Amino acid sequence: MASDDVGSETSKPSFVIPEIPIAAPEATGDNFPEQMAPLIFSAWYVIAKSEDAGRTLSAIRVLAQPLVFYRTEAGEPVVLDDRCAHRRFPLSKGRLKGDRIECGYHGYAYEKSGQCIWAPGTPVEQELKKGLPFGVRSYPCAERGGWLWVWMGDPTRADPCEIPLPDIGGNCAATLYGYKLNPANYMLLIENLLDLTHVHFLHGASDLTYAAGSLPREAPSPVNGVSWIKEIPQTETGLLGSMCGDDPERLVRMAEDSTQYGPSLNIGRQSRSPLPGDIEKCKLEKFVVAHALTPLDHRNTHQFFMLCYSDPLVIDPQSVLKQTEEVVFEQDADAVFSMQRFIDEENRPGRVEFSMACDRFGMAMRKILRVMKERELAELESVGHAERRAQP
Ligand code: FES
Ligand SMILES: [Fe+2]
Repeated sequence: MASDDVGSETSKPSFVIPEIPIAAPEATGDNFPEQMAPLIFSAWYVIAKSEDAGRTLSAIRVLAQPLVFYRTEAGEPVVLDDRCAHRRFPLSKGRLKGDRIECGYHGYAYEKSGQCIWAPGTPVEQELKKGLPFGVRSYPCAERGGWLWVWMGDPTRADPCEIPLPDIGGNCAATLYGYKLNPANYMLLIENLLDLTHVHFLHGASDLTYAAGSLPREAPSPVNGVSWIKEIPQTETGLLGSMCGDDPERLVRMAEDSTQYGPSLNIGRQSRSPLPGDIEKCKLEKFVVAHALTPLDHRNTHQFFMLCYSDPLVIDPQSVLKQTEEVVFEQDADAVFSMQRFIDEENRPGRVEFSMACDRFGMAMRKILRVMKERELAELESVGHAERRAQP
């Protein structure tokens, strides 16, 4: 795994960069549906698997902002605004020359700090010592857990120690990484992950006792997050157990927990043990799944996921990934898209949703995310407009 150091410079740039509109009007207010969460900039988000950040220019859109990322010759990750400061051509369509990006339109050249250091009219052999007085925004980034993370808020407040990923990959027999794009607001994904009763009804991957049995209980919560635990005295080991060689209908005891860390990460864990009197060890004892949720914009969400199995898989890992991505997570993506469409078309007055006990953690997250956004806007309000130009 690469180092946890911040990849890009975090100090305030001395050159002018275009302002990022973090207070988009639809992010808050009466017309913003309660089921959707606002875009929160003061957070760490996954933008790629570490090994996918390399010596080519890659593009991704995060919080409706275009980003370009690459690695320097020394291997340091760099994330910049993907709009040339000259005429907004995507820098990701340009060329990587050494550690610099050369815009593919008129050739303006940018350092990893985002500062423009060359433009037509400058002798080609002359390097501008001080650079030009403008550039593009550089985003703090760091690597953790096999992923590249970016901080989208005030760069002076970026602290990679706050990346909320606990060490979950250690002691795993198999760790698989994948990606899914969900055409829905990220809050619908958070609620999907916090209410796992859907695993039986939407995926058919568990028996009904899993959904009808005990309710999740509140567990100690992380900052800006929620956590629950649940014990199921008897249920089928299901699809997951079968991936490690158990009969999917084998009855086991299961303990499960799920934790949501701010807007960007959910971690779910399951442990299986034999029923009293059953002396055969479960073929899959522990399973952990991390979902890094990165809003592309208000209505689309990148989902980077990591699946960790404590025991060896008995089927080809690629077919496990295919089944997870193309069947299970596709069912989730289809469900949240369908709900997003109804949210966008909503014209029914009065109460349109009725919640039960299983929804309490999702409902708590709706509130937490709105409070985070209000705090972010209040902080922005306290910073002068001129200052915001340098630290959006
Ligand atoms: S748009 Fe990039 S150099 Fe002109
Ligand atoms: Fe699901």
